[in-house]
Amino acid sequence: MSADHTATAGVAIPNDLEAMWLPFTPNRQFKREPRLVSRAKDMHYYKPDGTAVLDATAGLWCSNAGHCRDHIVSAIQAQAAELDFAPSFQFGHPKSFELASRIADLAPGDLDHVFFCNSGSEAADSALKMAIAYHRANGEGSRTRLIGRERGYHGVGFGGISVGGMVANRKFFGPLLAGVDHLSHTYNRAEQAFTIGQPEWGVHLADELQRLVELHDASTIAAVIVEPMAGSTGVLPPPKGYLQRLREICDKHGILLIFDEVITGFGRLGYATAAERFGVTPDLLTFAKGVTSGAIPMGGVMVRKHIYEAFQTGPDHMIDLFHGYTYSGHPMAAAAGLATLDVYRDEGLFERARTLEPVIAEAAMSLKGHPLILDVRTIGLVAAVDLAGVDGLPGKRGFDAMRTAFEQENMMVRVSGDCIAFSPPLIVSKEQIAEIFEKFRRVLDKIA
Ligand SMILES: Cc1ncc(COP(=O)(O)O)c(C=O)c1O
Repeated sequence: MSADHTATAGVAIPNDLEAMWLPFTPNRQFKREPRLVSRAKDMHYYKPDGTAVLDATAGLWCSNAGHCRDHIVSAIQAQAAELDFAPSFQFGHPKSFELASRIADLAPGDLDHVFFCNSGSEAADSALKMAIAYHRANGEGSRTRLIGRERGYHGVGFGGISVGGMVANRKFFGPLLAGVDHLSHTYNRAEQAFTIGQPEWGVHLADELQRLVELHDASTIAAVIVEPMAGSTGVLPPPKGYLQRLREICDKHGILLIFDEVITGFGRLGYATAAERFGVTPDLLTFAKGVTSGAIPMGGVMVRKHIYEAFQTGPDHMIDLFHGYTYSGHPMAAAAGLATLDVYRDEGLFERARTLEPVIAEAAMSLKGHPLILDVRTIGLVAAVDLAGVDGLPGKRGFDAMRTAFEQENMMVRVSGDCIAFSPPLIVSKEQIAEIFEKFRRVLDKIA
């Protein structure tokens, strides 16, 4: 409150949008012409005036089960009345253990242990810290270097932006973590444009890891972190054989492989994890978003057995990992997670995403040939289009497309620069997939 006001809890003041500073949003434009939703059900949001908005992006890659699903809503309501909070350090409550077991059961290989946090950013930073601490626990304390990838997104913590490769997310924030290096991103339009699924071109880019090993020496490298399918940068499916090659090089040199599955986890690519889809098991796997279908914030890290066990060596009274969050495994998040996994299982939503993969691919590829479309990429229940930019104004075309879709076509899409991504809830129907791309074609015609 400014000096001439007395802050009094509960006093009604006019809602003029000004107090809130929105994340990753141009605030002045938004406050002039806000894009508000006030209700949601299944495949739709609703504007405050009641207009239905088709959700072509699962909120923010989160709501894989669709919105306000009865089973999830009831579980959260019941949990709120039964146990609101339980401390996560030195104490526990049954549902977080049950959820960890259910998640471990969905994970490939021996990713048998689950650490909880509250977001994808926390998951990425937790995984990076665990990797460095693991090597120390293992008698290899010199392994501290972290390797990420250009165009990677691992949230907004200092660890995540340091290994991340989205320039705008890094350049404002100083020197970041020391001892980080990056692989090249895997996109090459000349070689890959209009690919459905994994591109044929690009496996050789994984060999850059070998080059970095030769530059820094394996004894200094703790871990490599990649999104198996880069999402936020504009959907870059991995070239065929790329993830396998990274795994081989990591194994050869004792480097841990971290998959950031905050977007790809829980059905987005037709499987519980991208690791399962691509047949490559990482040593640590981060998740968030889809674990609760976005209904309550939650994130986490799945960890291989030998990594967890490396920490179980000290005196019995001693904390084994000096890391955690007040809200790790929060009762409401755990209840939402359990109910969400029930919905995925009972409605076969991962399989459904697999069945719909060719449907979204065909619908998205129908945009090829439009003068504004430079590339279309699809994999799983995901599609992305690169739009021809406006000269001198990077991101303007993408922003106009997102805004026009919401204001004139009543559809929510995700914008990243001049790329638009489509990742509807896994309950989407074939008719709604067709509707998404019919609406988007009209958007393109309007902004051309
Ligand atoms: C791969 C990946 N990692 C981390 C994050 C960060 O998640 P959050 O925004 O929940 O911190 C995201 C968010 O989109 C993501 O896509």
